[in-house]
Amino acid sequence: MILVTERTLVLIKPDAVRRGLVGELIGRFERKGLTIDALELRTMDAELADTHYAEHVTRDFYPPLKAFMTSGPLVSLILSGDQAIEVVRGLIGATDGRKAAAGTVRGDLSLSNRENLVHASDSPDSAKREIALWFPAHSV
Ligand code: PPS
Repeated sequence: MILVTERTLVLIKPDAVRRGLVGELIGRFERKGLTIDALELRTMDAELADTHYAEHVTRDFYPPLKAFMTSGPLVSLILSGDQAIEVVRGLIGATDGRKAAAGTVRGDLSLSNRENLVHASDSPDSAKREIALWFPAHSV
């Protein structure tokens, strides 16, 4: 078996912090076997939101998304493990919690496509960009 160790950027969003779900979500990632390489509680400001979501800033849904993501503290993490990018996307489920499969974070715990608890990088290029943005000291 060939191991493809990857790193991915995860944000435990403000709704999860407000709902007291940080431990539940980190526990799911840890029980899967992923490793926490970095972790920080911080609040996203407008500039970081515009950079992080650069591909979405012209979309209709961006203003409410930005308002939500800057509305309170979130937890940023780098997770690593075999095929971590795809594995974490699978664990969190589809964007819309109403449609996400049961057993996934969003399928079990969210009823929204905005307040959907977690962000995770969707490709190796995104992971590299997002890790450099959130954890410059861990960028390679
Ligand atoms: S797309 O169209 O596939 O590129 O977008 P998608 O991956 O579905 O969503 C990108 C992020 O936008 C958030 N989103 C929304 N926020 C507010 N309102 C609405 N209607 C909305 N629809 C999508 C979604 O939660 C994604 O956030 P991240 O942080 O990337 O998971």
